[in-house]
Amino acid sequence: MNWVSVCKVGQVSEDSPFSVKVEDKELGVFKVEENFFAIEDICPHAYALLTQGFVEGRTVECPLHEAIFDIPTGKLESGPGCRNLNTYAVRVDGDDIQLQLA
Ligand code: FES
Repeated sequence: MNWVSVCKVGQVSEDSPFSVKVEDKELGVFKVEENFFAIEDICPHAYALLTQGFVEGRTVECPLHEAIFDIPTGKLESGPGCRNLNTYAVRVDGDDIQLQLA
């Protein structure tokens, strides 16, 4: 399985996740404490980008109808999010953040 570089470490902060499109998937790269995580960026409930939502600790709140997801696991915590989010493996290679899609 291939690792794909999607952004630089400095482009992601706890307050400011990074939105990226890779192989037709819209993904969000989030930083929680000192770790990076990648989840689907599009809320499963309707079309809203979770990278434009509200990050609090290890959760993100959808900006449209306020579903709350756990970032590291993708688990739907509350609200009308419909299902858990897909998560993707992340690694840091030098200054690059890389994702594994398969
Ligand atoms: S679009 Fe995210 S909760 Fe409705």
